[in-house]
Amino acid sequence: MNKIRIGVLVSGGGTNLQALIDAQNRGELPHGEIALVLSNREDAYALTRAKKAGIPATVVTKKAQGSQQAFEEAIAHRLCLYGIDMVVLAGFMAILSKNFTDKFPNRIINIHPSLIPSFCGAGYYGLKVHQAALEKGVKVTGATVHYVNEIPDGGEILMQQAVNVLPGDTPEQLQKRVMEQAEWSLLPKAAELVAEKLYKEGI
Ligand code: GRF
Repeated sequence: MNKIRIGVLVSGGGTNLQALIDAQNRGELPHGEIALVLSNREDAYALTRAKKAGIPATVVTKKAQGSQQAFEEAIAHRLCLYGIDMVVLAGFMAILSKNFTDKFPNRIINIHPSLIPSFCGAGYYGLKVHQAALEKGVKVTGATVHYVNEIPDGGEILMQQAVNVLPGDTPEQLQKRVMEQAEWSLLPKAAELVAEKLYKEGI
């Protein structure tokens, strides 16, 4: 059977995409292949990372599509064109409604830079997550990979990795440590877990 074709949705720098590409190159994604990178921002550096790796890259913006519905339909159409079986949200900064998530039940995963259910849901993105963790004074934070449904950061948890908060941390320092010690290893492992599951189910 063919490998599970993975579409990675991005909006920014794409370090998590890079972690997936590097894992694939090391042979750590044996049941999947990154078949498409889709960005909702034309200027996302993640697109350059995809091109450097020889992976097809495409852009779908909400502005060009005009409405949330048209935006989601355009994304779904593009994923269909590339025969995508499974979607990884890797720093994708756009909301996806139930209309979209229902099309891919248990086939979309997301990485969130905290230990869900802490510091997650609407409004918790980027540095805000780490700011909130520091304001609360938690001593341990981390990253979570979860299935995606219509509730922001609300789907079933797949994997988590804890990271220590150190005295004097800034949000930027904490963000970097969470990426280095959790996100970049966790996301490829979770992607392989789901790809293997889909592969064995014969999807
Ligand atoms: C990461 O912190 C990820 O957890 C969050 O968005 C950020 C994306 O960073 N969802 P990058 O674009 O992968 O570098």
